[in-house]
Amino acid sequence: MEKHPQALLIFSLIFITFSALHPVEAQDQKGFISLDCGLSPTDPSFNDPSTGLTYSTDDGFAHSGKTGKIKKEFESIFSKPALTLRYFPDGVRNCYTLNVTQDTNYLIKAVFVYGNYDDLNNYPSFDLYLGPNLWSTVDMNGRTNGTIEEIIHRTRSKSLQICFVKTGTSNPMVNTIELRPLKNNTYNTQSGSLKYFFRYYFSTSGRNIRYPNDVHDRKWYPFFDSKEWTEVTTDLNVNTSNGYEPPQAVMASASTPISTFAPWNFTWSLPSSTTQFYVYLHFAEIETLSSLDTREFKVELNGKLAYERYSPRTLAMETIFFSTPQQCEGGECILELTKTPKSTLPPLINALELFTVIDFPQLETNQDDVAAIKGIQNTYGLSKVSWQGDPCVPKQFLWDGLNCNSLDISTPPIVTSLNLSSSQLTGIIAPGIENLIHLQELDLSNNNLTGGVPEFLAGMKSLLVINLSGNNLNGSVPQTLLQKKGLKLNLEGNSDLICPGGLCVSKDGNGSKKTNVVIPVVASVAFVVVLGSALAFFFVFKKRKTSNNEAPISYTQVSDVRTARSNSEPAIMTKNRRFAYSEVVTMTNNFKRVLGKGGFGMVYHGTVNGNEQVAVKMLSHSSSQGYKEFKAEVELLLRVHHKNLVGLVGYCDEGENLALIYEYMANGDLREHMSGNRGGSILNWETRLKIVVESAQGLEYLHNGCKPPMVHRDVKTTNILLNEHFQAKLADFGLSRSFPIEGETHVSTVVAGTPGYLDPEYYRTNWLNEKSDVYSFGIVLLELITNQPVINQSREKPHIAEWVGFMLTKGDIKNIMDPKLYGDYDSGSVWRAVELAMSCLNPSSARRPTMSQVVIELNECLANENSRGGTSQNMNSQTSIEMSMNFDIGTTPDAR
Ligand SMILES: *[C@@H]1O[C@H](CO)[C@@H](O)[C@H](O)[C@H]1NC(C)=O
Ligand SMILES: *[C@@H]1O[C@H](CO)[C@@H](O)[C@H](O)[C@H]1NC(C)=O
Ligand SMILES: *[C@@H]1O[C@H](CO)[C@@H](O)[C@H](O)[C@H]1NC(C)=O
Ligand SMILES: *[C@@H]1O[C@H](CO)[C@@H](O)[C@H](O)[C@H]1NC(C)=O
Ligand SMILES: *[C@@H]1O[C@H](CO)[C@@H](O)[C@H](O)[C@H]1NC(C)=O
Ligand SMILES: *[C@@H]1O[C@H](CO)[C@@H](O)[C@H](O)[C@H]1NC(C)=O
Ligand SMILES: *[C@@H]1O[C@H](CO)[C@@H](O)[C@H](O)[C@H]1NC(C)=O
Ligand SMILES: *[C@@H]1O[C@H](CO)[C@@H](O)[C@H](O)[C@H]1NC(C)=O
Ligand SMILES: *[C@@H]1O[C@H](CO)[C@@H](O)[C@H](O)[C@H]1NC(C)=O
Repeated sequence: MEKHPQALLIFSLIFITFSALHPVEAQDQKGFISLDCGLSPTDPSFNDPSTGLTYSTDDGFAHSGKTGKIKKEFESIFSKPALTLRYFPDGVRNCYTLNVTQDTNYLIKAVFVYGNYDDLNNYPSFDLYLGPNLWSTVDMNGRTNGTIEEIIHRTRSKSLQICFVKTGTSNPMVNTIELRPLKNNTYNTQSGSLKYFFRYYFSTSGRNIRYPNDVHDRKWYPFFDSKEWTEVTTDLNVNTSNGYEPPQAVMASASTPISTFAPWNFTWSLPSSTTQFYVYLHFAEIETLSSLDTREFKVELNGKLAYERYSPRTLAMETIFFSTPQQCEGGECILELTKTPKSTLPPLINALELFTVIDFPQLETNQDDVAAIKGIQNTYGLSKVSWQGDPCVPKQFLWDGLNCNSLDISTPPIVTSLNLSSSQLTGIIAPGIENLIHLQELDLSNNNLTGGVPEFLAGMKSLLVINLSGNNLNGSVPQTLLQKKGLKLNLEGNSDLICPGGLCVSKDGNGSKKTNVVIPVVASVAFVVVLGSALAFFFVFKKRKTSNNEAPISYTQVSDVRTARSNSEPAIMTKNRRFAYSEVVTMTNNFKRVLGKGGFGMVYHGTVNGNEQVAVKMLSHSSSQGYKEFKAEVELLLRVHHKNLVGLVGYCDEGENLALIYEYMANGDLREHMSGNRGGSILNWETRLKIVVESAQGLEYLHNGCKPPMVHRDVKTTNILLNEHFQAKLADFGLSRSFPIEGETHVSTVVAGTPGYLDPEYYRTNWLNEKSDVYSFGIVLLELITNQPVINQSREKPHIAEWVGFMLTKGDIKNIMDPKLYGDYDSGSVWRAVELAMSCLNPSSARRPTMSQVVIELNECLANENSRGGTSQNMNSQTSIEMSMNFDIGTTPDAR
């Protein structure tokens, strides 16, 4: 414990100077959304005379609600657009849907003025959600002057939903909704969004400033402490083009202490010690300095040095902020600017913004599924009151008739079941249903559907149950559907339906046709004994159900390749090659055994060359990977050979049928072992070290051994697979991209990866380099040390890196160690590993070690641990795990 843990903590300061991308644009309200809620759709848009902002009706943005108007006696206090409002008497959650630019920071404001619109004199209180996440609780009690909620939030998709949720008896309501896109690379956070706390400019003007002076329509309040400060102003133009672009009027005034030698102090109180915040300090030198004068000062936040010697630039602004969230002891914060000895002038500051961090951990539902379900909603004109906002999350607002899979908060939920039984549907079976590619159950029974049974249902790979009973469907049922394996199909009560061969339709004694109850799926040969096949079907189906309950299939791409057990080292040194689709069908025994499901499609067990096992990943057609990318990816993967990388055995590329065929990994993924989901004894420290060393070697090979080098982009514990000898191999290079080494050291690309493991610098800058993998690897290391989830909202610090940092300040390393290790480790080796992990997590990628350094360091940890000599419980995790590993019913569904 020689090192002081605090030394490991991550602080870093970012200093923005001009990026001066563009001169200040014309104030054209481009991208602005300004809704006057409750304004009649027949009323024209209007300009607010005080700001020049153009407001329009919210009709068409809200799906429900009624309009209201504040009472006459309040009209003297308020003006348009606050005079009208929309309120939501029906349903629990009501939402607005707004079109936005994806991955862009927006300033979002909602204004609430009650004004006794309902004559009840009862100020409402309700919850406000942004997409699936709670934004704020709006309590209007005592708010005669109304209230505003303001946030800066990065959009995750092309649409943004603002939802109003009833929490008591009062009806949620809203008067105005305003969205303003901000410049990229401003107000970035490590995670979470920014909730407005205050925004001051230091001036005696007494004037609030917003649009059109502020091109982004932020509202700046004047603040001045005349007892301590004097005001400095200028008429000259200040260059404000550093991205933040505050108004001229904000930067044209500043405060300095009256006494040259006094510090400039500013204090504020936050709700608690654990409240995280971001502060933005805007500076510009606006005094004309003589050649003898200097202004230079120290910037400190709560005594923590932010800047040792800072001089504002003449008539040009700079913004100082911390790249990591800050906290203040007891919630009491102080910002101090102190003149340096060399300086002849006191410190100066122009403006200050403060935001608290609000975490929005819940991901929105898979966007393809959302688009598909909305398409179906439109087709049938469904007006279910619960069908608003995100379809799947939060769980308590799950759309009526849907079921979703949202295994963990870091994976976008998917729609797995659609039940529109008895929903008075008319017309044909909506073609849009095909787009719900993750659908397992479809129940359209007891409606008035007409037309035929579409063939596309047979092509939906995940579907296990289809109930079309009690409709007026006609025509013949597609053969492919009847023959589809593992499908439970109910066609009862469609009197005009014909099944080829008369299998599904039988006439009863009265001469009217009646369909059979269930058509178990029969393989082409299985006409022989209907009962037999029914049983077989039941068996398969039952098993699958069990596996769903007991060992949920992970939807991250990696666990795709998880498997049951194989009996030999994959001897597949056969030439990497291209397989015909017919060969894929044969090798998977007609896709008999499902190993898992991933974002790109299903993964099946297969056998090549008689007895060598493989995992076959079928890429779904709707997957975002284009064909060209697929080819490029395959070519890349076929080049890569390393004992710590899961090998690509081959691929199939035949028309619509794309498949990747991988080496089979008998012991599944690392996370399963860490979570105990595989059963068996816990991995001991030595085994964990061995696994990370091997994973690090695999990664090191990608970075340094490949030509051109590769970035993995999705390093995480579910992507580290173990073979039957517990040898670790990195899987899933689906996200990898080659990157050039000479000249450019980074690649600008769309941010990909898994939340929690994602390098914040990459996220912020979009610049990909191999150090992003080092960051993710650091997270993996912490997971192995602590056995804590990467993100856990109920922990003091949700993110594992912050939590470890926080726990280390409290002293003993035992606080963070996985308790299941029972202290059985060499603490020297643990310390080294913790330090290494923290250095991998340095916010600045340049300061992170390379993978080669990581490998060396980890090998030394392992040597430390080995030299300790085995203790009683140390030795045999290997054996006991091997003994326990074939219990995973879910992955071995084939009967013996
Ligand atoms: C939002 O976008 C969708 C599709 O991109 C479009 O159909 C719709 O009209 C847009 N809505 C508005 C209000 O612009
Ligand atoms: C509402 O605003 C008026 C005028 O600005 C002020 O006098 C009054 O105190 C405010 N009321 C509340 C409850 O804040
Ligand atoms: C911000 O950057 C993202 C991609 O990184 C881009 O899609 C978006 O349009 C940019 N937004 C603005 C306002 O420039
Ligand atoms: C502001 O400063 C930047 C960088 O120093 C410069 O590129 C830009 O031209 C300046 N803008 C004006 C209006 O002077
Ligand atoms: C500023 O704060 C320091 C201590 O943090 C204190 O010594 C000093 O008196 C304060 N100055 C003023 C002007 O409040
Ligand atoms: C669909 O919902 C109905 C009740 O509304 C229920 O009886 C039926 O079992 C559901 N279908 C499935 C496949 O779960
Ligand atoms: C189907 O439509 C017929 C008339 O078109 C109507 O009589 C019947 O009630 C409808 N059935 C259902 C279940 O809505
Ligand atoms: C439709 O059939 C499926 C499978 O046979 C069954 O689970 C479901 O409950 C049925 N739906 C209704 C409304 O009976
Ligand atoms: C099915 O019914 C529709 C009318 O609902 C009719 O137009 C169509 O021809 C019928 N198809 C068959 C194959 O009978």
